[in-house]
Amino acid sequence: MSRAMSTSTHIPVLLEETIKALAVQPGGRYIDCTLGGGGHAAAILDRSSPGGQLLGIDADPTAIKAARSRLKAYSGSTLLINENFINLQAICYKYDFFPVHGILFDLGLSSLQLNGSGRGFSFQHNAPLDMRLSPTQEVTAADIINTSTEGELAHLIKTYGEEGYGRRIARYIVQERPIKTTLQLVRIIERAVGGRRGRLHPATKTFQALRIAVNHELEYLRAALRQAISLLGFEGRLVVISYHSLEDRIVKQFMQQEARDCICLPGTPACLCGHTVSLRLVNKKVITPSQAEVQLNPRSRSARLRAAERVITQDEYYESTEKLCFAASVEAKGWRRPVLLEKLRMAFSAS
Ligand SMILES: C[S@@+](CC[C@H](N)C(=O)[O-])C[C@H]1O[C@@H](n2cnc3c(N)ncnc32)[C@H](O)[C@@H]1O
Repeated sequence: MSRAMSTSTHIPVLLEETIKALAVQPGGRYIDCTLGGGGHAAAILDRSSPGGQLLGIDADPTAIKAARSRLKAYSGSTLLINENFINLQAICYKYDFFPVHGILFDLGLSSLQLNGSGRGFSFQHNAPLDMRLSPTQEVTAADIINTSTEGELAHLIKTYGEEGYGRRIARYIVQERPIKTTLQLVRIIERAVGGRRGRLHPATKTFQALRIAVNHELEYLRAALRQAISLLGFEGRLVVISYHSLEDRIVKQFMQQEARDCICLPGTPACLCGHTVSLRLVNKKVITPSQAEVQLNPRSRSARLRAAERVITQDEYYESTEKLCFAASVEAKGWRRPVLLEKLRMAFSAS
């Protein structure tokens, strides 16, 4: 989740850090996989001008509408698509938008979705238990709550919410079904858990778990990160901002694994995996918001930014026409820095 000054605005989290991590440059091509209100996208377009291009993706049609209005001034340089980022590669192939200089994932929800969107994302507003990012998805939070077994609910709340009271909450839910609204669910959780615990509202973890399950958040993130690598050009940057430990763990492990050649289990006498490095970590330590940012925007407090750069090894074999097309187009547009161009020439001549 990023931040909100009011119910109708979404302020991009770690904005300067994101632009720096993406190494935004004039004439660059970028993908924002989580367009939201278009805050990061506007800054990317601003810094990549003249000649910058941006493909913006969001599963939520209302986000696309908001971003389209915000990015009106850049309409000639943007392509905004109402799609799920699980289809990232297919979208880029369809619109011939690859390779790119940078890909951003700013995960979670925008303030527009959290604050009274009427879709049940927040335990602070009464609404039907929906939680779908897109109305085209079939399964709602109410479907999961009202049709899962007690065991399934307990597992889901424990795994996706990291909630220690998962079994107890599941038991109370099953006793009180059918449950239709957010506040109905909140009251049940409060009874199960027994009021407020520490700084977190007792419903926080269960709502997180339901949202993750409804939108397949963890599986889709894993799959999209993998697709992102294949779309990055030479020294292209992958930047991910996550808001809870389950997401951050996936991003961290993915980047660390892709930053190594062999990923065989320790003690394996000779490499069996054949895995080769595809990323270089840009920031070894995770980047978090400053105190000033958190004060201005309390929702940014859990944000964690990780960045990595596409590595093309000397022995990598350039068999795909996509990569060759990129090589040909490099001098015409895109990478303009002479040092990069020289490195790229060397990489291609070595392959
Ligand atoms: C934190 S907001 C992004 C805010 C944006 N960076 C800005 O500055 O306005 C996250 C956005 O990602 C979208 N989103 C989350 N998961 C998605 C997915 N799997 N596919 C496409 N969009 C997704 C949400 O609908 C939401 O609009």
